[in-house]
Order: sequence, then C-alpha cells, then structure tokens
Amino acid sequence: MYVFVLGSAAGGGFPQWNCHCQNCSNVRTGHPGYRPRTQSSIAISEDGMHWLLVNASPDIRQQLATLPHGPTQSVRQSPVQAVLLSDAQMDHVTGLVMLREGYPMDLFCTPSVQQELSQHFPLLPVLSHWNDGLLHQPLPEHHNGSFQVSFLPELAFSVIPLRSNAPPYSPRRDAPQAGDNIGLMVRDRKTGTSLFYAPGLGELTPELLAVMAQADCLLVDGTFWSEDEMRLVGLSHKQARDLGHLPLEGKDGMIELLAGFPAARKIFIHIINPA
Ligand code: MLT
Ligand code: MN
Ligand code: ZN
Repeated sequence: MYVFVLGSAAGGGFPQWNCHCQNCSNVRTGHPGYRPRTQSSIAISEDGMHWLLVNASPDIRQQLATLPHGPTQSVRQSPVQAVLLSDAQMDHVTGLVMLREGYPMDLFCTPSVQQELSQHFPLLPVLSHWNDGLLHQPLPEHHNGSFQVSFLPELAFSVIPLRSNAPPYSPRRDAPQAGDNIGLMVRDRKTGTSLFYAPGLGELTPELLAVMAQADCLLVDGTFWSEDEMRLVGLSHKQARDLGHLPLEGKDGMIELLAGFPAARKIFIHIINPA
C-alpha cells in the first residue's frame, strides 16, 4: 500500500490567509524550520498510480500536481479514481467542487455525511449537474464495519466510528452522532501491514485504542498542541476537545499516549497554525 500525504494542515492551511500569528508570520518570512502546509488530505493506492483520495481539501488543485500518476492515455485523465470522506467538515469536502470536471466519480462516505452534504451544505445535489456528479457508496457506521474499494482489491478497509464533532453548519454541532466522524483502518492483505488514519479525534474509547494498537502506521490528529491553545493566542474560548480534537502535550496528551503504541510509524496530521 502507498499512502501519499497531500496536505497536513488543519482547516485554514499554513500560513492561513488572514492569520498573523507568530507561526504564520514565520512561515511567510521563510524562517528556518517553518514550511508551508496545505489542508488535510491523503491518498491511498496499491500501485502508486491509481489513488483513492481520502478527504478533498480546498487546496486539491495544487496538491494533485504532486501526486504520482501513470502514463497519460486519454485527453482527460486523473490519478484519482474515487473519493472517501472521514467527515463533512469544510476542509475535507470543498475540494469536491474542484474535481467536478472528472465526474461521475464514486464517493465513499457514511449516510450521516451524505445527509449533511445533501441538506445542510448541499454540495451533492449541486454537483449532480456535472455528469451525474458523485455516486454515493455508503460506508458502514458501526465499529469495524468493513468495505471494499473495487480498484484496490488487496486492501481491506474498515470504518472506526469516532467521537469528534459535526461541522459548524450542522444541526448536530456539539451533539455528533455515529457516522459524523470516522477513522479508517486499512490492511494490506499482501504485506499484512496496516494504516490507521484519523484527522479528527475527540475522545479515546477502549475500542479505538484496541484498533490503534494493531496498526503499523498511525496517521492521527495533531491539530492542537494544548487544550487551551486558541484562548492563549486570543482567538477563541473553545477548548481543543470542544472542537473535536485531543491536545498533543501533557499527561493525557496524544504524544504520551502514542509512545505506548507498537506502531513503527506515528505521524501527526491536520495541524493547526496558531501558537
Ligand atoms: C476541524 O477540523 O475542526 C474543522 O475542519 C475546522 C474548520 O472548520 O476548518
Ligand atoms: Mn478539519
Ligand atoms: Zn496563524
């Protein structure tokens, strides 16, 4: 299995267009150690040429220019064969608009996410006017619900429901339901290795910890350094957990937690810009 990190920033990117925090300022002035990041998205492939896009960020156009692809065989061709969404947040879905010239295309998402994108942020009905748009392939909403992606026959996918948050535009904001946020476990049947991907983690349940303990590679929520980071920069009174993310530092932080897992690779993604 190939995993290509297209973007590792949280919503807003790094630097964020209207942000003059120390970090965003440093990346603009080319300060050593600061590199720009585009918004949250990865791609998964078996052959390194045909990809499942996991989350479609508003930076997709720039990101796709970096994605490896095979020889061009027709006038219109894309290495992206299908899209999967882990939630219906803006940073993960607005790229679907940019992909419209490539429709129809399969869209793997839970019924909850499909509902959000049909009613409260109706991207799917709007995009159906481009060659039938996105063809919903429903994902299970229960723990370890498995599914297949036809062009990735060697990969076994399972859905891990996560407690994070529903998008700000959703009536379920601050009261998320099963299916609003999922993590993805991907096992390569040929090599036996596995990936766990979760850009938004708001709570660690025993089921989730058991899944994370099995993964060879963890690609997980690194949004906030501290619980009250947004308050310290004077941006919001909301805590990391209110926004559906667990902080990295401290006693129960993600860094300490991850230290106890056997995974050979532990990588933080979806990193926000202030501090
Ligand atoms: C999040 O991950 O909490 C959201 O994507 C933030 C946003 O609305 O950009
Ligand atoms: Mn996000
Ligand atoms: Zn900033």
